[in-house]
Amino acid sequence: MARNVYGLDLGTYEIKIFDKKKDKIWKAKNVIAMKDKKYIFSTGNEAYEMYEKAPDNIQVVFPMKNGVIAHFDDMQYLLQTLLDTDRQFSRGAEYVIAVPTDVTEVEKKAFYDLVFHSSAKAKSVRIVERGIAEAVGMGIDIWNEKGIFIANFGGETTELSVLASGGMVLNRLIKIGGVHFDSAIANLVRHNLDFLIGRLTAETLRKEFGVFEEAGDASLQVAGRNLLTGVPQQESIPIGIVRAAMKEPLAECVRSIKSLLDRTPPDVRRGIDEKGIYLTGGLANLRGLSTYLEESTGLKVTMIQNPELCAVSGLKKMILNKEYKKLTYSMLDEDYRWLR
Ligand SMILES: Nc1ncnc2c1ncn2[C@@H]1O[C@H](COP(=O)(O)OP(=O)(O)OP(=O)(O)O)[C@@H](O)[C@H]1O
Ligand SMILES: [Mg+2]
Repeated sequence: MARNVYGLDLGTYEIKIFDKKKDKIWKAKNVIAMKDKKYIFSTGNEAYEMYEKAPDNIQVVFPMKNGVIAHFDDMQYLLQTLLDTDRQFSRGAEYVIAVPTDVTEVEKKAFYDLVFHSSAKAKSVRIVERGIAEAVGMGIDIWNEKGIFIANFGGETTELSVLASGGMVLNRLIKIGGVHFDSAIANLVRHNLDFLIGRLTAETLRKEFGVFEEAGDASLQVAGRNLLTGVPQQESIPIGIVRAAMKEPLAECVRSIKSLLDRTPPDVRRGIDEKGIYLTGGLANLRGLSTYLEESTGLKVTMIQNPELCAVSGLKKMILNKEYKKLTYSMLDEDYRWLR
């Protein structure tokens, strides 16, 4: 039987997988719920729903932090349960993994070890820089474009990539993502209304209100705890508080985009001025974000459908089309050091 090939884009919020045999792309929350710190209680989407609601003996663990693997064994376990239902990796499969560029070699190697030095016993593991996978996913002719700017807004990070002539020119991983917007919202709600809300509730508020369209006097009724009385109750949260909380993290992202553009070589910059910014990552779904970025950077912003699946669709193309293989590399290649 032919070996299976998997494409993996491991995100702090969601894992995205392409399975060649099943010819299918799917995603699952990168979360495990543990019972008494020992037994796996639930994984993926089911575990995420338990966050901040579970009893004391259930701990909800996020195996990744800021775009890199923080709890190796948990990550390996979760991946194993996602790839196969019988709790076994399909032995000897091949993997192509999208990794962030602006992290240490040790952090990159952990993505590799996840399936190589483990019960998965991968036959081969190839790595590709996420920005490159995303350009392929969007169908950009990456060998002939003069300059490409991709901004991936994710769960805990924003990854900015400048590509030209088939390679990475500049890359920055900023530690700001959906979760930082949500904690800013929860903090301001607590400060202004003496009302405590959880991370999932803040996420709901963010998704409901977006960042740019006409604010009006909208509000949303959510559950939380009144900090003055200590009693759980419903409270109406006005859009103004949610928008105000998101201002600073948004401004920080824009500052980083501008500073990377300033460091971009002039020839590449000309290409970017023409084509603008390509927006990817789950947070790109946030209503009004592309308009906000257009207004604050002065560049055109292009978005695709399902922006969170952009990297994994690129991996799919790379797995199915040999022409793209040269964009991936193995950590075992003798000339690997050369490539970095
Ligand atoms: N429709 C939507 N509206 C607003 N935000 C959304 C929507 N869908 C997803 N998101 C947000 O996108 C973020 C997740 O994006 P993504 O899946 O790209 O992250 P990730 O790859 O797991 O994380 P990272 O790249 O930081 O490691 C979450 O914060 C989530 O709330
Ligand atoms: Mg991501």
